[in-house]
Amino acid sequence: MKGRKPKNCSSLPTVTGRNKCSLQSNGGGQAASSQYSKSCCTILYLRSNPKDRFMNKMMLLLFCTLAAASLMAQPAIIAHRGSSFTAPENTVASAQLAWQQQADAVEVDIYLSADNRVMVMHDGNTKRTTGQSFKISETTSEVLRTLDAGSWKNEQYKGEKIPFLEEMIATVPKGRKMVIEIKCGPEVFPALEKIVKKCGKKKQLVFIAFNWETIVKAREIFPKNSCYWLSSSAPAVQEKIGEAAKFKLDGLNLNNKIVDEATVTKAKAAGLEMLSWTVDDPQEVKRLVGLGVTGITTNRPDLIQQSFSIP
Ligand code: G3P
Ligand code: CA
Repeated sequence: MKGRKPKNCSSLPTVTGRNKCSLQSNGGGQAASSQYSKSCCTILYLRSNPKDRFMNKMMLLLFCTLAAASLMAQPAIIAHRGSSFTAPENTVASAQLAWQQQADAVEVDIYLSADNRVMVMHDGNTKRTTGQSFKISETTSEVLRTLDAGSWKNEQYKGEKIPFLEEMIATVPKGRKMVIEIKCGPEVFPALEKIVKKCGKKKQLVFIAFNWETIVKAREIFPKNSCYWLSSSAPAVQEKIGEAAKFKLDGLNLNNKIVDEATVTKAKAAGLEMLSWTVDDPQEVKRLVGLGVTGITTNRPDLIQQSFSIP
């Protein structure tokens, strides 16, 4: 959230766990630290006999480790195409599951249909997720809506439709966000602007795109919404960091494989936030957060949330 984000924290909200960035910042972490502090002091008191000094040191070490872990900033957890490990990607069902799993944001991909409706779908063609082949830009929403976008994942999702963007935005709970990846060209902007204006959740929307011109255009059209440039090319990122700052993008959203210390440091020095995708491995999430990444896009928001819980 602009103007309210603490240093090193994502402009995306975080809603669960301890020591979250942004709106729920630090309360959980402080409570956790205080709890560990109390219990450790009690144990140290009980072990005040000189013979137990070694144990005292061990307990102190354990306390420090737990306190350090609790102080590790938790990134915003962004559900990639919804909770797409379990539910069919880019459907209302996958968004709703992600919210249940306490995702801070849901990421969706958009294309424009032949009748100018903004459809939520990762591919330009419907074949992979519906079994029937239609090019979205050449097909009306009426036809697209007859397709079953759920069965391919699991029979229990039979009948899930390709959503209109408005339907996905309508699922976003208070305090959380929808990250909209613009997959198609600039032809989508007139319809997108209308949706954003009418949805009543404008402040909860974030835009991302791989195409440079598209994200710069999004920045221009939606000056108060966060905009991040997507890339999986290390050389392109080195080249564009200065430009991204010049065009007032909020940050970069990079393939985790190209996120290293030098890149994060350079981006931060330019005033850019760093997000990363698509990470389902808690150890890799820890590496990224340690480098200063403030938002993690994952197919498994439940697993990543759990990995930040100290038993
Ligand atoms: O959030 C960024 C990520 O979604 C980009 O890759 O192919 O899953 O759209 P892709
Ligand atoms: Ca995407």
